[in-house]
Amino acid sequence: IFGYVNYLVEKDRKFIVNTLVNGLSRLEYRGYDSAGFAVDGDKKNEVLAFKEVGKVAKLREMIEEAKPDLTKVFDSHAGIAHTRWATHGRPSQLNCHPHRSDPNWEFSVVHNGIITNYKELKALLEGKGFKFETETDTEAIAKLAKFIYDAHPDIDFDVLAQAVIKELQGAFGLLLKSTHYPHEVIAARKGSPLVIGVKTQKKMKVDFVDVEFGEDVALPAETASQNVALKKTNNLLAPPDKSLLHRSQSRAFLSDDGIPIPTEFFLSSDPSAIVEHTKKVLYLEDDDIAHIHEGSLNIHRMKHSTSTSNVRAIQTIEIELQEIMKGSFDHFMEKEIFEQPESVINAMRGRLDLENKKVTLGGLRQYLSTIRRCRRLIFIACGTSYHSCMAVRGIFEELTEIPISVELASDFLDRQAPVFRDDTCVFVSQSGETADSLLALRFCLERGALTVGIVNTVGSSISLITHCGVHINAGPEIGVASTKAYTSQFVCMVMFALSLSEDRASKHQRREEIMEGLGKISEQFKEVLKLDKPIKKMCDQFKDKKSILLLGRGAQHATALEGALKIKEISYLHCEAVMSGELKHGVLALVDEDLPIVMILTRDDIFKKSLNAYQQVVARGGRPIIICNEGDPEFPAEKVEKIEVPTNVDVLQGLINVIPLQLMAYWLAVNADLNVDMPRNLAKSVTVE
Ligand code: F6R
Repeated sequence: IFGYVNYLVEKDRKFIVNTLVNGLSRLEYRGYDSAGFAVDGDKKNEVLAFKEVGKVAKLREMIEEAKPDLTKVFDSHAGIAHTRWATHGRPSQLNCHPHRSDPNWEFSVVHNGIITNYKELKALLEGKGFKFETETDTEAIAKLAKFIYDAHPDIDFDVLAQAVIKELQGAFGLLLKSTHYPHEVIAARKGSPLVIGVKTQKKMKVDFVDVEFGEDVALPAETASQNVALKKTNNLLAPPDKSLLHRSQSRAFLSDDGIPIPTEFFLSSDPSAIVEHTKKVLYLEDDDIAHIHEGSLNIHRMKHSTSTSNVRAIQTIEIELQEIMKGSFDHFMEKEIFEQPESVINAMRGRLDLENKKVTLGGLRQYLSTIRRCRRLIFIACGTSYHSCMAVRGIFEELTEIPISVELASDFLDRQAPVFRDDTCVFVSQSGETADSLLALRFCLERGALTVGIVNTVGSSISLITHCGVHINAGPEIGVASTKAYTSQFVCMVMFALSLSEDRASKHQRREEIMEGLGKISEQFKEVLKLDKPIKKMCDQFKDKKSILLLGRGAQHATALEGALKIKEISYLHCEAVMSGELKHGVLALVDEDLPIVMILTRDDIFKKSLNAYQQVVARGGRPIIICNEGDPEFPAEKVEKIEVPTNVDVLQGLINVIPLQLMAYWLAVNADLNVDMPRNLAKSVTVE
């Protein structure tokens, strides 16, 4: 979701629409099956809304064709916009956001997340005469706002918002706009991220916004009595409970004499859509309700909020616009694959001291002794992040000798797996917002476990609510298929294992060997990326193939799993990763001279066993492409088609081996003319369960 509010800054409609639509383009990687926005119309209380199925480019085309009058100038205005990834209701113009309370758009809303009790709300509101137009859960929010407003027409927007939000179950990041409160916006979050960028015309004097408990909201007597009436008519909608919302007057954006200064606000699901306008941002926390009104930003906190902080700092974000631009690359995924020599360095910068053979992870330092004593280390994640946990399981077991388990967040929750106070649960996530991981994190927090976050996105929910953690510093990852986050997560977790084992004399030599290996990774990435062209060519042979088998053993099973996921998600080719030890237990039946097979056969302690699988495949007429160490005499060029990669320590070899598979996935998708950065049916940040 994206919103733009200007206060005492004259802007024409063209500027406002462009700002909203450009904001959506930046967020499009998160979801892209339809897009829309709402701005003020020409007359008072009129709203102009555009919605279109497809990418944001289609929305632009639609505006060009419709030729709305873009010249009208607004000195204060609030606009809201959305790019969608369907959860409730198929992608259609009707289901596209913003959603409205009624044909006059008295209330319009854009929403990221899921309202799990929307059916109950819908039934209730239909009972009150509301006609629902869409199949979405979101529409209930706009209609609920109107329902409460109609009963309390004198209510302030923030009090109304609180009454609405109190009724919502599920997850949301939302923006609410209303013709009754022109130029005001409500931004609220619970479970889905929201960032507010602020640009003032004068130098900003404050560096935080207060959310301290202030006066309770007092409802005027007559509305309070109507509340009682409302309560009588249904039990679902309790009256706006004044004790729930605590008011605080933000001190932000006022000049010395207390007069608001001309200000622009940019509201977004993530900062990548804000950086081109301002570097000053503030992250909302769960249960925050922000109210932008006459140039001031007030942040209220629902009473049940678990937030421990009474201020929301205005931070200066460090992302540069060029970091979120493609530059000379054709796709973000390609750019992100090629950024890896740099991004792994950023993961290790200031943390790995090769001279003194020491690792320092500032975010974990205080907790290391507790973690060393834990009963088990449970790694919990989804998708690619889960694979990175699988990839480092062995190194944690070897260096720490703590029992390790690796869990898929959704399955862990489905089983309601036992978790205890003396467990340490590590949550690994690029976005820091994945609903399954976030719910699993809450589950572990409730059971008193120590929680650690390994996260890329600063200010994300997982980074905020874990006890401690490590930012992987990979920079924004825009391509839906995760690449550089995987290698940076891997590196950060290896450093975590090294930190945990720093006092183990028996591991001294092994630790040094691994640290030296980490020191070589970036250069080796550069080497392996030179294979780009040969891999592109190699991919020609997969044209018209329906399925690929990827085999790996030990830590390379994780590499195979990750490679197979990459291939599936962007080339839509079925690709199955199999632990090579399991081949003979069934999968071997698939093997013939036609089935494309890729085998990871780099040297490690179990190389001989991996070789057995290779021989089993060859004996059945299979002609696998193999990924092996440079110059390995076991695989003479005249006999096998191979991808030779630089050699590193066995436990780090997976970092290098995954890159040819990322490139393979990339070229398979490009060769098939598919949308590499936005594969069908997927979204970058999966904020639904
Ligand atoms: C695959 C991919 C997904 C994510 C998964 C978890 O390329 O990107 O499998 O890894 O949705 O996302 P995060 O890491 O943001 O929790």
